[in-house]
Order: sequence, then structure tokens, then C-alpha cells
Amino acid sequence: MAATESLVLNDVTKIFQQRGGAGVVKAVDRVSLTIRKGEFVTLLGPSGCGKTTTLRLIAGFEMPSSGRIVLDGTDITYQPPNKRDMAMVFQSYALFPHMNVFDNVAYGLRIRKLSRSDIQTRVENALALVGLSGLGNRKPNQLSGGQQQRVALARALVMEPQVLLFDEPLSNLDAKLRVQMRGEIHALQRRLNITSVYVTHDQVEAMALSDRIVVMNAGRIEQIGTPDEIYRRPNTRFVADFIGRANFIDTTVVQAQGERVTVELFGTRVELQSNGRSVKPGERQTAVVRPEGLKLRADPTLEQVLIEQAMYLGSEIEYIVRAGDQRLVVVDSDPRTSQIFPEGETVGLDIIGEAVHLLPPEETSARA
Ligand SMILES: Nc1ncnc2c1ncn2[C@@H]1O[C@H](COP(=O)(O)OP(=O)(O)OP(=O)(O)O)[C@@H](O)[C@H]1O
Ligand SMILES: [Mg+2]
Repeated sequence: MAATESLVLNDVTKIFQQRGGAGVVKAVDRVSLTIRKGEFVTLLGPSGCGKTTTLRLIAGFEMPSSGRIVLDGTDITYQPPNKRDMAMVFQSYALFPHMNVFDNVAYGLRIRKLSRSDIQTRVENALALVGLSGLGNRKPNQLSGGQQQRVALARALVMEPQVLLFDEPLSNLDAKLRVQMRGEIHALQRRLNITSVYVTHDQVEAMALSDRIVVMNAGRIEQIGTPDEIYRRPNTRFVADFIGRANFIDTTVVQAQGERVTVELFGTRVELQSNGRSVKPGERQTAVVRPEGLKLRADPTLEQVLIEQAMYLGSEIEYIVRAGDQRLVVVDSDPRTSQIFPEGETVGLDIIGEAVHLLPPEETSARA
């Protein structure tokens, strides 16, 4: 195995037997994934899609029904959790309430029987890393939610694990703190370069933190890619819909020459990249257009759309417009925009080709 590969999931499936003979659930369905050393990978998907189960399989809290998990060339599929060089940060923090911060962080080191002075140094370093120096004597109930989450993070970091696992660690925090902690986790992970697997159902969090995102749906992987790939070139309707907001527009191919494809959207010809997909003139396709790829302009030569809703959100203006029998979301975040088009008005719709992406043909009509 190449030295840059750290963690490999090979065709991993987990089937749960439901209590009371209520049948079986395939929580994880043939998941294969290779995570590089130092990489930050996020498992992203809706509730019940198998994110936590996948993470627990990696941690060793669950055993797969089939498939293999390999860490640095060693098969760890059936290894108990305490033998794996990993640490997990939970949503619930899972701190010991009767122990102070120092003892909470020191707990794992004491089990490993490190010397008193080593424990002292490592706990102090870990607390400094998460910005909690000097709070070692506090009990968890004397800390804010954000501080408790930092203790949980320090407790994982202090073990200097080969792999860090996170299960929705920020979802108990309020919106502002979540954004702040997100930035701190990002900076810390980049600095320490620890291989990380992060679980969230928050797509913005996933985009902000990850080198690569694994989008899951019903136990299966829908797509793996960098945040940019996932956002700009979704493979499926599900991914396009789950990551950010998407308009799905039926379109006809007008011209196709190598990578350059011309399609017609609402009477406007738009040039775009086929991304290696073979498309032929005359074909019907489904285009994904992000809200920021649509522009409203008072231009009578453009397709005219009706403004059904206009919402001023400060950093952007969000419109719901009607084009023929379709409703579209349009977002204008251009700081030069001084005019908000009023509801009920009709304006021209312009389309930015770079923001248009064709779904593979099997996605065109399927799973609408
Ligand atoms: N111990 C278990 N016994 C039976 N079914 C389980 C068990 N754990 C999970 N499941 C089922 O497996 C599926 C995946 O659950 P999982 O907890 O992995 O989802 P998740 O993606 O983490 O969801 P959420 O975002 O709600 O945390 C669900 O249908 C769940 O009900
Ligand atoms: Mg979960």
C-alpha cells in the first residue's frame, strides 16, 4: 500500500437486525473509501443515511457484516476500539461530570499508564491547543457549551491519535459559536495534519472543513469529491439537491463539439463543458443551475420571468421567479446591486454558462 494511504474501507456493509423481528436495516451498503494521510474527509448526508454507523465501524464500536477496514496496511476490521490508534469527538461531548477539565483530558493517558510529568505536559499542551489554558480545575458544569466541546476536542488530541473521528461535534452549539469552532477545528487540523473523518448533515460545515466530501444516501455513497467538485459537478440529482440549492431545468442540446456543448435554456443559448460526457445534438438533458448562476436584468431581449418573491437578506437578495411553468431560485450577491426588483414585476433572465452543469443521462428523468 502506498505510504500516503492511511485508512481504507473496502466494500463495507453493516446490516442491523431490528428488535422484535421487525426485519433488517442495511445501514451501510458496500461502502469503499480510501483516505489519505492527513486528509480531512467528511461523511455528509441526511438523517439515517448511515454516517454514524460508518464512523462507528471505523472506530471499532461496531463490526461490519462484510467488508474490510485497513489502517496503514494493517487489517483492523475486528480489532477492538482500544487497540486502534484513533480518538473520537462526540456530539454530546461525553465528559465525566465529576472530574475536572484536567482529569477529563488526562483520562486516556492514565489508562495508558504514562508518567505523571508526561501527563502534565501533554494535557497542558492539549488545553493550550484548544484555548483552554488555565481552566484545568473547572468542572464541566462550570463551562459553556463551546468550552465543553473544546475539552472533548482536547481529550481526543491529547492521545495524539493517527486518526481523529468526529460525530456532529458542533451541532449542540449556537449558530455563531458553531462557525467559530468550525474555523478552529479547520486551523487545528491543518496545523497538526491528523487524518480526520468528520460526520455532519450540515453541508456548509462539510464544505468549509473538508479536503473531500463523501455524500451518502440510504447507506450508499452517492459521490466522493472535493467541495468544489461536489458543488459544481454533482453526479446525481440527489447530490445537486443536497449540496447547496439547485434549479433543475430541462434543456435541449443544440450543438456538441468535443468538450464544448451548447444547450438552450429558456430561449437562451448557453455554452458549457460536457465534463467528459458524450452528448448529441437534439438530446434532452437535465441541467443543474445554481441560484447564483442566474441573473435578473431589465433587458427585453432576454427571456422574461415573473418575480413571485423578493427577499432582502443583507449580503444577498433572493428571488423566486416563474419562467414558463417552472419556479426558479435566483440569488444576487453582487455588492453593486442597488435595485431590488419588486414582486409582481417582469424582468429578463440571464444565465451564466459556467454555473450550468448537465446531469448524467440516467439522472435526467430518474429519481425526480
Ligand atoms: N444499533 C442499531 N440497531 C438497529 N438499527 C440501527 C442501529 N444503529 C443504526 N441503525 C439504523 O441504521 C440506519 C443508519 O443509522 P445512522 O445512525 O448511521 O444514521 P446517521 O446518518 O448517522 O443519521 P443522523 O444524521 O440522524 O445521525 C438508520 O436506519 C438507523 O435506524
Ligand atoms: Mg448520526
